[in-house]
Amino acid sequence: MALVGPPPLRNVSPLSVLLTDIRDERSATVPFPPGETRVSMARTRRFASEPLPMLLDAYERFGGIFTLRLFHSNVVFMLGPAANHYVTVSHASNFLWRDGHFRDLIGLMGDGLLTIDGEFHRRSRMIMLPAFHREHIAASVDLIIEETDRALEQMRPRATIDVYSWTRHLAMRVAMRALFGLDPDGEPARSVDAAGLFEDALSFYASDYLLRIFRGRLSPWASMQTAARKLDTVIYSEISRRRATGERGQDILSLLLDAEDENGDTLSDGQIRDEVMTLLFAGHDTATSTISFMFYELARHPEIVARLVAEQDRELAGGRPTHSQVLSGELGELERVLEETLRKYPPAWIGPRRSIEPFEFEGQTVPGRAFINYCSWASHHLRDVFPEPEEFRPERFAAEARAAMPKGAYIPFGGGSRTCIGMRFGQLEVRTIATVILSRCTLALPEDFKLTIRQMPTISPKAGLPMIVHPRAAGASGLSAAA
Ligand code: HEM
Repeated sequence: MALVGPPPLRNVSPLSVLLTDIRDERSATVPFPPGETRVSMARTRRFASEPLPMLLDAYERFGGIFTLRLFHSNVVFMLGPAANHYVTVSHASNFLWRDGHFRDLIGLMGDGLLTIDGEFHRRSRMIMLPAFHREHIAASVDLIIEETDRALEQMRPRATIDVYSWTRHLAMRVAMRALFGLDPDGEPARSVDAAGLFEDALSFYASDYLLRIFRGRLSPWASMQTAARKLDTVIYSEISRRRATGERGQDILSLLLDAEDENGDTLSDGQIRDEVMTLLFAGHDTATSTISFMFYELARHPEIVARLVAEQDRELAGGRPTHSQVLSGELGELERVLEETLRKYPPAWIGPRRSIEPFEFEGQTVPGRAFINYCSWASHHLRDVFPEPEEFRPERFAAEARAAMPKGAYIPFGGGSRTCIGMRFGQLEVRTIATVILSRCTLALPEDFKLTIRQMPTISPKAGLPMIVHPRAAGASGLSAAA
């Protein structure tokens, strides 16, 4: 028998979901926080294309909790250290992920860790946690270096490379191998462009709000389903192969296949598929954005690159990081650059939730069954918490300054019982890939490049990130110009 699953979505037809949302809002027993609550498609569209300035403007006018009417419903935003702590830690049990703003992701990921709540979430997390222990993920460092070396073969001097797409493919290969022991060069994975399929599936979130409610053959939803089905063939075939051969390794798939609860119940193929799909998505998409934004900022700050190069020349043996350097963030300059990248561009920029019971925060009431979002991207741009937030300044994360940050101010990995389960793996992956790139080449932006950011649903460069490859500046260690 399969382990007990999550509750089904209350309604499956998008229209009845919308109607239920409207009914929920009408039956509110307390007022919503102040804000912009008139219906406006212009506001809805603007939010889809540039949410950050809108949220910062509303924060200035209304404070740390406010309402914006988006599409058909009131959506409450909670910004700042106290709000983040309230939603993710101190009152987390009053919020559900599954009924929140990104519930359409269930159409791609099913009932994996990200989209479930309550006891089912707690048990699923317990099953997977051992795979993210330090010693387990340490085993991935060599594989990540090997994959990065392989990908770097495309980075010839003076070539222009789309670093976003380059990293997406690299991070997908890493996720397949490190998390699931899946061979990206074997069948059926080889004949499927998994990174491209995720890009297709997630473009649902780049489509107009109105189009997202349609389910017809040419709708964004249908494209998401087509991509999901192709990805399913790879995942299900690996599940059957492992079940048939009994082959197991140190990977998460092995843990999931053997997981049993106290009654001896195990996970069904469908449940395992959902967890694998969730981790493949979360495991490659966030790292891709982080590396892209990091190298975008480095190209604009040669003085920071010089410090990183000097650090590599002091600390690295032959351009390679040791396991403990990338596991624990021992390369201080790189660590501060990573932390500042995740401040300015937290890929999982919004924490979508739905309240269960009405509550009060900073003197404002919020009804039960209301859409609530905490937002790391906006919280990391509050002037009173991070002065001159648009400036890229790794020194913000020098030990003393870091220790002085208020609780809940810096939340790129969320918080509480839903803190990113892949945090250590993600950090290790970004540190390793960045170290290897920096030990081999310098990446520059074309003169006319202008960054615009899309949300899909993580944030990333809208038109990719074209960068020109130059040889690395030679350093004292002789590490130079290998590209
Ligand atoms: C730089 C890399 C990463 C960043 C910035 C990041 C960020 C986040 C954030 C903010 C959340 C919480 C979302 C919320 O509160 O609604 C989250 C959850 C999650 N992340 Fe990550 N993530 C990263 C890498 C990874 C990796 C590598 C994996 C998998 C290997 C992963 C798997 C997950 C999963 C499964 C959840 C849901 C956890 C739960 O609800 O219990 N993430 N991530």
